[in-house]
Amino acid sequence: MIVIKDLNKTYKNENISLHVLKNINLHINKGEFVAITGSSGSGKSTLMNIMGCLDSNFNGFYSLNNINILNLDDKKISFLRNNNIGFVFQSFNLLKNITAIKNVELPLTYTKISKKERIIKAFSALKSVGLEERINHLPNQLSGGQNQRVAIARAIVNDPDLILADEPTGNLDSVSEDEIMNIFSKLNKMGKTIVVVTHNEEVLKFCKRKIILKDGIIIKDETR
Ligand SMILES: Nc1ncnc2c1ncn2[C@@H]1O[C@H](COP(=O)(O)OP(=O)(O)O)[C@@H](O)[C@H]1O
Ligand SMILES: [Mg+2]
Repeated sequence: MIVIKDLNKTYKNENISLHVLKNINLHINKGEFVAITGSSGSGKSTLMNIMGCLDSNFNGFYSLNNINILNLDDKKISFLRNNNIGFVFQSFNLLKNITAIKNVELPLTYTKISKKERIIKAFSALKSVGLEERINHLPNQLSGGQNQRVAIARAIVNDPDLILADEPTGNLDSVSEDEIMNIFSKLNKMGKTIVVVTHNEEVLKFCKRKIILKDGIIIKDETR
């Protein structure tokens, strides 16, 4: 599903250039449940952003579902991203002034799907994360763990095959963390490919493969 070859990423500002990812080679197959770990600043989010087609300013090769990202224009990249990838972030990134179900509907508003169908899909996504009784709550009326479940519902509403989560439990207590990781496990059992960036040993236990980054280099890649 993901093939990365000789990937290098350098951030360049006016006078400094920072070589953040160094000759990364990585294959991730459909159905894997992968953790990317390593200390702060090791390049985890940078790698995640490239995998998520949010950043195509890199050297090397990246293909997602056999599509070479560097051959696509921005419009095709957005299309690929919207249809194939669900994102979950540490800070949830929900819109604060709209309800849970409206947040989950958002990724569908730019598609041809009818309003009625949008509501059905959004409800079903919220139900699958156990929030069918909270659909009309605003983010500030929900706990952190519940908000992250709304964010997961939003990430899966388009039925993407790949879910990318950057420190998804970083703002949560350990009970919510378990809930979130159990949801990812369930999604993985349903066939979704999941890549989680995390610092947390408890989170690592849920993942089947662990990739450790250090200073932009993969120093360990082990599968249980
Ligand atoms: N947009 C950017 N411009 C310049 N440097 C950046 C940018 N984003 C991240 N960096 C730097 O790249 C390195 C790796 O960052 P990041 O991928 O966010 O690491 P991690 O997620 O592992 O903490 C850090 O030194 C960070 O300061
Ligand atoms: Mg990061």
